[in-house]
Amino acid sequence: MSDLKQLVQQLPKTELHIHIEGSLEPSMMLDLAARNNVSLPYADIDAVSNAYNFNCLQDFLDLYYKGMSVLLTQQDFHDLTWAYLLRCKQQNVVHCEIFFDPQGHTERGIDFATFMHGICSALDKARAELGISSKLIMCFLRHLDEENAIATLNAAKPYLDRIEGVGLDSSELGHPPALFGEVFRQAAKLGLKRVAHAGEEGPPGYIYEALDVLEVDRIDHGNRALEDPELVKRLVATQMPLTVCPQSNLRLAVIDDMSEHPIRKMLALGLNACVNSDDPAYFGAYISGNFHALIDALDLNRKEILQLVINGFESSFMEESSKNAYLEQINALH
Ligand code: HPA
Ligand code: ZN
Repeated sequence: MSDLKQLVQQLPKTELHIHIEGSLEPSMMLDLAARNNVSLPYADIDAVSNAYNFNCLQDFLDLYYKGMSVLLTQQDFHDLTWAYLLRCKQQNVVHCEIFFDPQGHTERGIDFATFMHGICSALDKARAELGISSKLIMCFLRHLDEENAIATLNAAKPYLDRIEGVGLDSSELGHPPALFGEVFRQAAKLGLKRVAHAGEEGPPGYIYEALDVLEVDRIDHGNRALEDPELVKRLVATQMPLTVCPQSNLRLAVIDDMSEHPIRKMLALGLNACVNSDDPAYFGAYISGNFHALIDALDLNRKEILQLVINGFESSFMEESSKNAYLEQINALH
């Protein structure tokens, strides 16, 4: 392994943009389908992998929602989350902030209690046994209306002690952030942090709306900010975090080739970007794989890698004392 890839392994890391349902590996999908008697349109693992050929976000989302249909019981959600956390341990991800999509499950008749207890039991076990800290971010599906999002926020009220913030995901084009102003205001009143996917496929205007209407603490993706110099200036001045997902960008055709990935340019402009996997089971790379792809394609250097990792800690919602302890560890490696 190259020195830089060893450095990536050695560094404690965060992950701030991971959809837990997007960590459902084909093998687990088939096992859960068998366990739960759910029929899938795939004969075997190769058939699943061969189907993961996407031209845009919606191509992926269609399979992502089909894939999550195998998740039925509390144990399923526990197993899914635990498998992701074991990957974190292997790759030295010490803190993760995990998205989940309640409406992807409640729409299929699964109770809030089922996925909350399943996910949280795995997070608690990881804290105790693996030393990995975590936060949960509940995402609203933007292809559904705001009324549905408000009902979801209300259903989450018994679990708010386990939910750090709310997010906005699913089909971006045609579903601008401003449509969700009221539910984000209600979430803010409840003391929840706010993040939103914006500028993955949507125009810079969607990023302005996430900032001005949803008053977000972070932008998820944000690639298309680069088309608007005024917006870049504002994001730099406020050090607004951008949770960038390189391998996702490649697999969803946001970029044509990893050598065109804008992350190095983002750092050069002073943007607060960090590296994340988004939906690792669908895009073929967890955190380390994303760093490796950037190192191979962009010839990223040591200083840039350290900056990306530091940005992840700085942008996280983790407790200040642990954040500072990790930052000290990383600075010692400088
Ligand atoms: N974008 C929007 N919605 C999503 C994604 C994504 O990359 N992954 C899972 N839901
Ligand atoms: Zn995402």
